[in-house]
Amino acid sequence: MLIARTVAELRHHLMAFTKPVFVPTMGNLHEGHLDLLRLAKPLGDVTVASIFVNRLQFLPHEDFASYPRTFDSDCQQLQAQACDVLFAPDETQLYPQPQTFKVHPDPALANILEGEFRPGFFTGVCTVVLKLFHCVFNGGAGVAVFGQKDYQQQLILKHMVQQLAMPIDIVTAATTRAPDGLALSSRNGYLSPPERAEAVQLSVALNTLAQSVRTAKLAGLFDVAAAELTAMEALRARGWTPDYLTLRHQSDLSPVTALSHAPMVVLGAAKLGKTRLIDNVEIQR
Ligand code: PAF
Repeated sequence: MLIARTVAELRHHLMAFTKPVFVPTMGNLHEGHLDLLRLAKPLGDVTVASIFVNRLQFLPHEDFASYPRTFDSDCQQLQAQACDVLFAPDETQLYPQPQTFKVHPDPALANILEGEFRPGFFTGVCTVVLKLFHCVFNGGAGVAVFGQKDYQQQLILKHMVQQLAMPIDIVTAATTRAPDGLALSSRNGYLSPPERAEAVQLSVALNTLAQSVRTAKLAGLFDVAAAELTAMEALRARGWTPDYLTLRHQSDLSPVTALSHAPMVVLGAAKLGKTRLIDNVEIQR
């Protein structure tokens, strides 16, 4: 595996290929990232991963400084998956001057859910992803793989490439889960053993809400707001602090007020102790 530390090195190496497939990460890799890589591998002629902890997507009180940085073990895991190229720039490469030009996604998509509780988060994500895409694809075509766990992120990035006419296919990979059902995340490492045992309850609450939607009859007979409150209350009763558990349309994450045959998704974010977890469950009716 070639490790490129600079944009020039990366571009030089990728000149020989026509269809890069790219998996951007912030490192501290786990099975979920490796599943993204496994899905990516057959989709292009060179597999590129990146590791960059992106300051722009952290609020001042968030965990940028303490975000786990595990470069050596990340490299070993990427190598074991036969990743071809790792792009691992430092901040002086990616942000040689303060990044004053930024990508501001549509507020209707970016200021709700995660964007409501983490203002500016998606501006930070879109800005770094656009820049990473320029480094890897250099204006050409390719494929990039993101996880479904970050549901709003993958949707916003699909809008970004479409709106900016970038010839990049965004592929969404199913969420990788621990045997008990907890969605894998680098932030799971912050959980104490009792919190880790409890953490699956977020996905339990989301699945319970999703199941009540699946079994409900159509419009009028199902009170969405009441079902969302019940789901949040169930978590609160177990000591969680939920930010939201909500039923949305898959296409634009707008609230579902009455059930229809449109594809829906239940999304949730909640704090357990100091750790904030997110997850989601898709519903086809
Ligand atoms: O999902 C992530 O790990 C990050 O948001 C990403 C896409 C690598 C951008 O920093």
